[in-house]
Amino acid sequence: MMRQYLKKDEWKIIEEGFNPEHHTASESIFSLGNGQMGQRANFEEAWSGPTLRGSYIAGVYYPDKTRVGWWKNGYPEYFAKVINSPNWIGIDVNINDETLDLFKVSKVENFVRILDMKKGVLQRQFTATLNNGIRVSVTTERFLSMERPEVGAIRFSVTPENDDCNLIITPFIDGDVKNEDANYDEKFWNILSAEASAFEASLLSQTKKLDFRVGFAAKSIITGGETSNIQPIQNATFAGNQISLKAKKGEKIIVNKYVGVCSSLYHPAEQLLSQAKKQASEAAEVGFDNLLTEHAAHWENIWKHSDIKILGDVAAQQGIRFNIFQLNQTYTGKDERLNIGPKGFTGEKYGGSTYWDTEAYCIPFFLMTAPQKVVKNLLIYRYKHLGKAIENAQKLGFTDGAALYPMVTMNGEECHNEWEITFEEIHRNGAIAFAIHNYIRHTGDDAYLEQYGLEVLIGIARFWSQRATYSQEKQKFVILGVTGPNEYENNVNNNWYTNKIAQWCLNYAREAIDIVEKNNPQRLEEIIKKVKLDRNTETNMWKSVADNLYFPYYEEEGIFLQQDGYMDKEQITTDELSPSIRPLNQHWSWDRILRSCFIKQADTLQGIYLFEEEYDTETIRRNFAFYEPRTVHESSLSPCVHSILAARIGNVDKAYELYLRTSRLDLDDYNREVHEGLHITSMAGTWMSIVEGFGGKRVYDDRKLRLAPCIPEQWHEYSFRIRFRGNDLEVRVNQEQVEITCHGTGSTSLLLYNEEVDIPAGKSICKPLINNYYAKN
Ligand code: BGC
Repeated sequence: MMRQYLKKDEWKIIEEGFNPEHHTASESIFSLGNGQMGQRANFEEAWSGPTLRGSYIAGVYYPDKTRVGWWKNGYPEYFAKVINSPNWIGIDVNINDETLDLFKVSKVENFVRILDMKKGVLQRQFTATLNNGIRVSVTTERFLSMERPEVGAIRFSVTPENDDCNLIITPFIDGDVKNEDANYDEKFWNILSAEASAFEASLLSQTKKLDFRVGFAAKSIITGGETSNIQPIQNATFAGNQISLKAKKGEKIIVNKYVGVCSSLYHPAEQLLSQAKKQASEAAEVGFDNLLTEHAAHWENIWKHSDIKILGDVAAQQGIRFNIFQLNQTYTGKDERLNIGPKGFTGEKYGGSTYWDTEAYCIPFFLMTAPQKVVKNLLIYRYKHLGKAIENAQKLGFTDGAALYPMVTMNGEECHNEWEITFEEIHRNGAIAFAIHNYIRHTGDDAYLEQYGLEVLIGIARFWSQRATYSQEKQKFVILGVTGPNEYENNVNNNWYTNKIAQWCLNYAREAIDIVEKNNPQRLEEIIKKVKLDRNTETNMWKSVADNLYFPYYEEEGIFLQQDGYMDKEQITTDELSPSIRPLNQHWSWDRILRSCFIKQADTLQGIYLFEEEYDTETIRRNFAFYEPRTVHESSLSPCVHSILAARIGNVDKAYELYLRTSRLDLDDYNREVHEGLHITSMAGTWMSIVEGFGGKRVYDDRKLRLAPCIPEQWHEYSFRIRFRGNDLEVRVNQEQVEITCHGTGSTSLLLYNEEVDIPAGKSICKPLINNYYAKN
């Protein structure tokens, strides 16, 4: 199943040798991004083989007209798509009248592609023998500047190896691009202008709907060779510079292409081209090497706070760094209008939209590795969508300020229309509320509640109290017709996870009101007025629903039951499934999947993971022992949560086995789908499985840090760094001991296993490792 063609290295992803069959996978794996734009690892020069050309600009999307068989009331009108944007990396090379195209040349040798994660740069080299007999060596380097988020830079060199030759080099910008996933095969862009002069090209594009505009400008500088002609070329959608030159055998011709990409999110429409040109010429003045130095310095700082080191296992080391690298390329936290699509900028699947993945997976990662404002911006994104969430709930029949956040969104509107996901996966509302709590308990920023959080929590609590139904038969509140995180059963009643998170939201909203009342009573009055809260009546109702909510339980096994009807299903475990029918979603009918007991991803266990403090180890063990063998992990978000829980119950081997599935999911292409893009959001889960799984990091009593490290026998040592309430800690674990260093300016105290430890600022403590701590407790 796996595809392992990449070389293992601690800091680099390396592909050696050219195999066109791997090309689309590599286009995903070697993707680059800088939070504001992203680019798949497409070749600069022509490539006529299979490809997904992908260039994406953060926040620029298209409301593609929806496609459904049977329209139902309440369906969203559109499915938003991150737009495949004009191709700004292109550099065509023609050698003695033949186009350099690795799919067509007679021979490719010494092909190496390297993603240097330390510096954030993509490099490639090869020697190609063309059909006309000319042999050329090519090297390329490319990065999307972290320091200047509107700049991309390329250094491309060609050296004729066996003869002098005539070269035509054409750096260009091409606006004739299409989304692979367009519903009606339409193009999404109008190209408003395309202009070229000697070494410059520019293009102004506008989305056909919503009027996003993006200006592109390229400045190319060529060194080497004897230039005979420079010909600007332009048509309605294309602008480039055709440079003809003679190159001597052995002479290196270097093209430096500097590109400015400016979108209307950041500039007035009439300034887009001038701004893009300014970015490109400033970059050209600074020069490739200096740009790269400042970009690498940016990465150095990111790595300082987010790196995880694993000694004794290069594959694991490469895997975790790849995940950290991709997450930081996708979201930099500077703009609260942006969010994190499940595939980031590496493909079109999931439309680049925001899912609950952000709150449930990415926020824990960024909370502990990035400055506080990064997660605050992710929370404010949802705060700004509160009005739309209220409208969304109204469309479904809810009233009085009840808010249902969309399952899939770009601008706060729901833009997905599979009913079992759009309407039924209401648990996402809970993840959004929980993220507020998670942020506050990690940062201590209580003021967030009064500034933004409380309004969101009230809207969400109102939703849950209206969504619950009182069952006369059970004499309890029930929540009917939902899909839990396990998308392999729909329209179920009393999904344990959904009920659990609903109950928690109802309680937390009341608690949050009390906190704001204590800290800032005047602000509470303002909020009450603004959201028209009938404080006593409403909060009493919330309490009554929370206190009387029904939770299915299966006595015989002593487990929380995933949903009312779960035990009616034929009970089989995954080891009874033949590998030939995995993954189930590619072999079984949907009908069969829905009837089966197989679970796509953590569901009841997702709830136990979130509220672990409430359960003793035995309870967690029983639930894990029941559910994990029924779980097919067909969502990339699944193995990580299971790995964390396996470590929590002292089963380090199982934790490691599950960790391996998550850590190199894309690098080893476990699901044979990496060509569609990378699993960006689940990468955060991989990070969690080290820090929360092996590291045992928890926040307890809502404000205190706890660590309970264990280590897989395969590793000599691992270390990670976390931010917590203004402090900065480094944790190093080997087979004998745990060392914790406090890098912050103040001292810190935490619970290590069950012992309270104090660490002065700048100092470390060392304690023996208790690898089987949870096995015994
Ligand atoms: C998962 C969802 C997730 C979505 C986007 C689905 O396969 O089941 O939980 O939100 O992918 O990552």
